[in-house]
Amino acid sequence: MTGWWEGAVGYQIYVRSFADADGDGVGDLPGARERLPYLADLGVDVIWLTPFYPSPQADHGYDVSDYTGVDLVFGSVADVDHLVADAHRLGLRVLIDLVPNHTSDRHPWFADARASRDSDRRDWYVWRDPAPDGGPPNNWVSHFGGPAWTFDEVTGQYYLHLFLPEQPDLNWDHPEVRSAFRRILTFWFDRGVDGFRIDVAHALVKDPGLRDDPWIDGPPADDASPQEVFAALDHVHDLDQPAVLDIYREWRQVARRYDAVLVGEVYLLRPEALTRYVEGRDGLHAAFCFPVLKVDWDGPRIREILQRSVAAGGDRLAWPLSSHDDPRAATRFGGGPTGSRRALAYLALLCALPGVPFIYQGDELGLEDGEVAAGADPIAVRNPGATGRDGARTPIPWAPGPGYGFTTGEPWLGFGANRHDGLTMLAQDADPGSHLNAVRRLLACRRGLTGLHAAATVQWLDTTPGVVAFRRGDVLAACNAGDRSAVVTLPADGELVHATGGDTRVEDRELHLPADVTAYVRLPS
Ligand code: NOJ
Repeated sequence: MTGWWEGAVGYQIYVRSFADADGDGVGDLPGARERLPYLADLGVDVIWLTPFYPSPQADHGYDVSDYTGVDLVFGSVADVDHLVADAHRLGLRVLIDLVPNHTSDRHPWFADARASRDSDRRDWYVWRDPAPDGGPPNNWVSHFGGPAWTFDEVTGQYYLHLFLPEQPDLNWDHPEVRSAFRRILTFWFDRGVDGFRIDVAHALVKDPGLRDDPWIDGPPADDASPQEVFAALDHVHDLDQPAVLDIYREWRQVARRYDAVLVGEVYLLRPEALTRYVEGRDGLHAAFCFPVLKVDWDGPRIREILQRSVAAGGDRLAWPLSSHDDPRAATRFGGGPTGSRRALAYLALLCALPGVPFIYQGDELGLEDGEVAAGADPIAVRNPGATGRDGARTPIPWAPGPGYGFTTGEPWLGFGANRHDGLTMLAQDADPGSHLNAVRRLLACRRGLTGLHAAATVQWLDTTPGVVAFRRGDVLAACNAGDRSAVVTLPADGELVHATGGDTRVEDRELHLPADVTAYVRLPS
């Protein structure tokens, strides 16, 4: 694809854990703004800010009660304006998070809808009579545990919520819902934002008959976690309905006028399912590819997932290294120094693919999940024993000392027992051998690889088992996910232009690659 997005590197700011300027313990927009020069220096091109809108915070901002405001805890609309202006001065683009699948149950739209069956906005949400036994209208389940339906005593019907009961799903068949969101897009585009990350982009439209989803292998055990229950259903009726693309076709028209991009959180785990979201010129500009963030440190498996993903979406995909919803890459890949080394190698691999790699805040420091007692994420709070998302959301350690330079107050969530001064941004900044400086070198090198950026296609190479290797343009990228050093035979004499770890060398048309390292070799074009 073409435009400012091409060749970019993204960075996700989970606002409440990034930087707190006013000392209330919660990250905010002025705090993020102060750190923009750090991000420009890191070498990223586009930042994505997680929701900062007014919200009761039942799901930490993904329950929006006003789409054109800013929650006091995060700042003001003027703070968004200042942040966008500074970002643009620094050459950074700004994506903000749009949450169109559901609102907060405190949104005035829902207050109106639930007041009476005759309310003007009743049909902005999905209401159904109880099943004959008085239970929910179908077998859909919430991502966060329990049925996807809550009974409303006042009006005697159930409403649908694919997430918390505090997050009622909007009815996207309603033309006024559609026009309301077109106005929201325009509101933020007029303020200068460069695009949206679209939350749950694969789920806005549901099966018109709200039919039951089939169980894959029968209903799960009584003690199954919410994630296991959700995975036990074949989501053919509640997710991934083709008609959702009609919405993005409308939005694309709006975005086009502002040279803005739409990047979908299409949380589907088969890469092939992403294709229809991004193909052609009127779908989403890009979709996040979550299969790459689910994979273990296993060469053949990584190769299979990357190969299938590139075939499905090519340069129209965004590659998340980690996110606020999943364990961090360093944790996924084994934790400790090895986990961080692998996470760096994986980032380098993603950086060589067509499409846009996304660093999640703290990945550049090689952070593992913070070791905190589950206490904030509703998944863990409401489902005793379930794994929540708090570990990936602990605040960023910027500097040694109390509050780690994140806050002068009491942080809303602990940093984690495994944090120490050596992990802080300041300590790493001063150490040429740090993870932070390795990421800076990687992004600087990537930027200069013109032959890589010029090529949209990838040629996969069969090398030693455990090594994932491909050629893109004049660059050969190879990642050794095996357990010992490997030798990769090169198709021609090449020059080693980058390696994420020492002891990597090119000699006699061979790349000597230690375990857990990625190297870039420039070949004659
Ligand atoms: C995906 C978001 O990333 C996640 O944090 C949120 O809980 C759900 N969507 C619901 O909005």
